[in-house]
Amino acid sequence: DTAWTEAAALGDLPEDDVIGVTVAGRDVALYTVEGEVFATDNLCTHGNARLCDGFLEGHEIECPLHQGRFDVRDGRALCAPLTEALRSYPVRIEQGKVFLQL
Ligand code: FES
Repeated sequence: DTAWTEAAALGDLPEDDVIGVTVAGRDVALYTVEGEVFATDNLCTHGNARLCDGFLEGHEIECPLHQGRFDVRDGRALCAPLTEALRSYPVRIEQGKVFLQL
């Protein structure tokens, strides 16, 4: 499926921060880093924590539960206790709206 699904208005995204949104029934984290938007699953791959409650520094999101860090650009796990990458989604911005390829 290569369809693009609208996820948010660009103006609703805080700068250099993360929010959680529900897109087509999925819990997704949207990040802005220096004006660029990235999207991953919101649920940590290690446990029951939402990354939108975590701490974004540069391109790294830190999980609020055990401080595991992921790269928001591709979802890769950067440190223990994480062993599994986070799913990331292609992002397109069009007419002030954020679209994701789910
Ligand atoms: Fe995220 Fe453990 S739940 S690091």
